[in-house]
Amino acid sequence: MPAIVMDKPGSGAQFEAKFTFYVFLCCIMAAFGGLMFGYDIGISGGVTSMDDFLIKFFPKVYLRKHEARENNYCKYDNQYLQLFTSSLYMAALIFTFFASYACKKYGRRPTMRAASLFFLAGVILNAAAMNLTMLIIGRILLGIGVGFANNAVPLFLSEIAPARIRGGLNILFQLLITVGILVANLVNYWTSGIHPSGWRISLGLAGVPAILLCVGSLFIAETPTSLIQRGHLEEGKATLRKIRGTPNVDAEYNEICRACEAANLVKHPFRKLANRRNRPPLVIAIVLQVFQQFTGINAIMFYAPVLFQTIGFKNDASLLSSVITGLVNVLCTMVSVLYVDKVGRRVLLLEAAVQMLISQVGIGTILLINLKSANTLHHTVAVVVVILVCTFVSCFAWSWGPLGWLIPSETFPLETRAAGYSFAVSSNMLFTFIIAQAFLSMLCHMRAGIFYFFSGWIVVMGLFVVFFLPETKGIPIDEIDRIWRQHWYWKRYMDNADAELKVQKEQAATV
Ligand code: BGC
Repeated sequence: MPAIVMDKPGSGAQFEAKFTFYVFLCCIMAAFGGLMFGYDIGISGGVTSMDDFLIKFFPKVYLRKHEARENNYCKYDNQYLQLFTSSLYMAALIFTFFASYACKKYGRRPTMRAASLFFLAGVILNAAAMNLTMLIIGRILLGIGVGFANNAVPLFLSEIAPARIRGGLNILFQLLITVGILVANLVNYWTSGIHPSGWRISLGLAGVPAILLCVGSLFIAETPTSLIQRGHLEEGKATLRKIRGTPNVDAEYNEICRACEAANLVKHPFRKLANRRNRPPLVIAIVLQVFQQFTGINAIMFYAPVLFQTIGFKNDASLLSSVITGLVNVLCTMVSVLYVDKVGRRVLLLEAAVQMLISQVGIGTILLINLKSANTLHHTVAVVVVILVCTFVSCFAWSWGPLGWLIPSETFPLETRAAGYSFAVSSNMLFTFIIAQAFLSMLCHMRAGIFYFFSGWIVVMGLFVVFFLPETKGIPIDEIDRIWRQHWYWKRYMDNADAELKVQKEQAATV
């Protein structure tokens, strides 16, 4: 998930700032935060398809998997197996809210360090797990780490980056999530040949980005915004000089002070979110996240190896196919970095909706015709399914993946931006949890129909973009209100909001 775009209010000014070594170091930090999250998304699918892992924790699933007469679609349908994947997202969802409190009260740096320590504790429990309880508690600790990191790292980045590279960093973070997924796929491919404890290596290696994040957080300073907001004015100014590589930081310093004062005046940003004026960005932030998950992307990211085994691939081939989809995911996210500000958000989202629809209907139809309860797909047909999965992943990666995060980061007014964004984060975690917990059962009960289920959602989200999503390309972040005022539907919220604002001002004047 990317960084929040926190441009300075009103001005759109470019302050004097060099791309210093310090800022470079911060980008590396982003890399560890993104890698940590992505690695988790990618690792569980491969691990849950490994026989050694199943024998140890899910012997029933293992027996079912190797039972010749077992229904293809139901081999992996097990609530606990799904809980192994999903528990992380439930914990992250809950701890997102604690994390935003910790960020404000203690700063970004300690919150990141806490994230890496929770994460490390989770990794140790996972890699050393002797029973299911250790495994699930480990996943919950990882989830707490993810919840903390996903709040603190984006905030940290958006405050540390010079304005001109802030947008790029925004998608870079998503790019590193996809790199984390790919690395996890590769690690699984390697460890699946190591018996009987390859899965321990897979789960244990998640500690590497966490250790780096922890060590990194010892060497970097707190962000100037966080220092100033908590009253450490001199330290904030000194840090600003250091990160911008120039003594001339007065203009930016004053802007940060102004923004902090304004933000501190809003005592209840979450309450303020309920105002009519915030309705359009709030609805869009939540709906985009729900839609992002109902594209079915995480059915693929979490369960691709399981899915590929379902259609008849052997363990190796299915893990290799996941590596291929992981690679497509990384490469196509780069396409987004290059084109999002040229062709705009709506074009990418709509093109992707059509391409995703074709891929999902294609996969569903092939499985419907060819994969009965007890056979496997002919090799050529299975390869076509892998190609269709890649077409699906490719367009997700240049559209709904990064834009599901970018758009909520650029459509809220400053005073509710952080609070609004945390709604996007928690909606993402909630719906990721739902898909992780339900997909294998849905596959068992709906069989190939599950792909038509996702297709139905893709039609709905395409229509939503056509009718309800205004283009935000090239609009300065502090003039974003303009897009709602000009929109056929959302403008009604602005008219009333203006009227409310006027009454409030009049009342304030008479007091
Ligand atoms: C989504 C994740 C998904 C990832 C895949 C992100 O934007 O939020 O749920 O696994 O993209 O690259």
